Amino acid sequence: MTENFKHKSTNIVWHESRVSRKFRQEIFAQQGTTLWFTGLSGSGKSTLAFTLEHKLIEAKFKSYVLDGDNIRHGLNNNLGFTDADREENIRRVGEVSKLFADAGLIVLSSFISPFKKDRQLVRKIHADAGLNFVEIYIDTPLAICEERDPKQLYAKARRGEIPNFTGISSPYEEPDDAEIIIPVSNTPEQSSQQILEYLKLHQIIKH
Ligand code: ADX
Repeated sequence: MTENFKHKSTNIVWHESRVSRKFRQEIFAQQGTTLWFTGLSGSGKSTLAFTLEHKLIEAKFKSYVLDGDNIRHGLNNNLGFTDADREENIRRVGEVSKLFADAGLIVLSSFISPFKKDRQLVRKIHADAGLNFVEIYIDTPLAICEERDPKQLYAKARRGEIPNFTGISSPYEEPDDAEIIIPVSNTPEQSSQQILEYLKLHQIIKH
């Protein structure tokens, strides 16, 4: 069980499932795994995650996207964009991703997750639980994200209307240990194929 340095609950007991991970994997014909998409707003994380989810489901693999904007409508609607709130956002969705992966799903978690230490924590949460964690860096330069500006948020941030905006008034720390790097020249189709090849190579999904 993951040690939690902020544990407030006492007198709690861990219950073991009667279903082993191996049995779950055999029944589902896949390994529960978190695919963690990180990159700037507008980099294409969510487009890629939803494209890949569609392909996986079409091929009958059990998968689900956790998307930053969506999760902030519900589970994390009490969090904003200060460093501390982003840290808590990533910690919570990291724990949720771990639960989904433990349940046997391929979870596609799409969050800016700008801070290295927060991504490292999520990696550790998975490693401690013996679960696969694949970090995917959507390497789209700021200038291109800003030019695309699909939600017109960069324009607002430049006008000073959004505080702590990633890339403008809040930092993005590039990963140096990502398992997969997605170049800006790729189409979502090509990137999906690249990730599917990785999943097959590592036997996370069967051919
Ligand atoms: S994270 O930094 O905590 O990982 P998350 O991925 O959940 O961010 O949410 C990012 C989304 O929130 C962006 O795609 C954008 O639509 C929206 N957003 C609103 N305010 C900000 C901000 N200050 N910085 C970045 N994204 C913001």
